[in-house]
Amino acid sequence: MKHFFIMIAEAFRAARSLQRKGFLLKAQRDGLRVGQGTKFVGSHEFGTEPFLITIGSDCLITDGVRFITHDGAIQVPLIAKGEAFERIYGHKSTFKRITIENNVFIGVSTIIMPGTTLRNNTIVAAGSVVGGTFPENIVIAGNPAKIICTLDQYYEKNRNRVVQPPRSRDERMKFIQTLHDDSIG
Ligand SMILES: CC(C)(COP(=O)(O)OP(=O)(O)OC[C@H]1O[C@@H](n2cnc3c(N)ncnc32)[C@H](O)[C@@H]1OP(=O)(O)O)[C@@H](O)C(=O)NCCC(=O)NCCS
Repeated sequence: MKHFFIMIAEAFRAARSLQRKGFLLKAQRDGLRVGQGTKFVGSHEFGTEPFLITIGSDCLITDGVRFITHDGAIQVPLIAKGEAFERIYGHKSTFKRITIENNVFIGVSTIIMPGTTLRNNTIVAAGSVVGGTFPENIVIAGNPAKIICTLDQYYEKNRNRVVQPPRSRDERMKFIQTLHDDSIG
């Protein structure tokens, strides 16, 4: 019975993976531009204007990252001033591009707001809400995301803890369990 449930879980995982691939291909068909070597892990939301999003090369976009290119909040002052044609959200919006340059890592569940530009060699912390334009070679975090250190500072702090586990799931689990506490923390 246990094996049956594990098989079901594996089947759902495979189906979800295909579904995510489909969503990404659809966004690309709708104009999302993605450079060479960029990887997407898990599921993502590219919104209704993927053609306003450019992602460069060698980026890693982790699970649950959401790109937002429009803002229906403008409807509130329009209704307040009697300038809305219809009292329905979504009919009027403002729009801005999102540009992610090369070698950018975006941590899990981050929201990238309209008008964001992230330059080369940027790390975005998990759960950040990112808006505006940032310089190159930095780590940013928080809501709203702010620079927390330079890329060099982050590297110096973490370089001795880097390990490379095997790719297969089981081997990977075994490998990580054998690591010394210094690497895990
Ligand atoms: C941003 C990040 C790279 C920083 O790594 P680090 O420098 O080793 O992290 P530290 O824990 O030493 O934190 C450094 C500072 O940043 C802050 N910080 C770290 N992660 C943060 C986050 N997600 N949001 C807000 N602040 C964060 C810490 O509170 C700390 O602040 P302090 O100096 O005032 O105490 C890491 O925390 C992170 O978010 N990585 C992404 C993880 C992820 O999404 N993995 C997905 C699978 S690959």
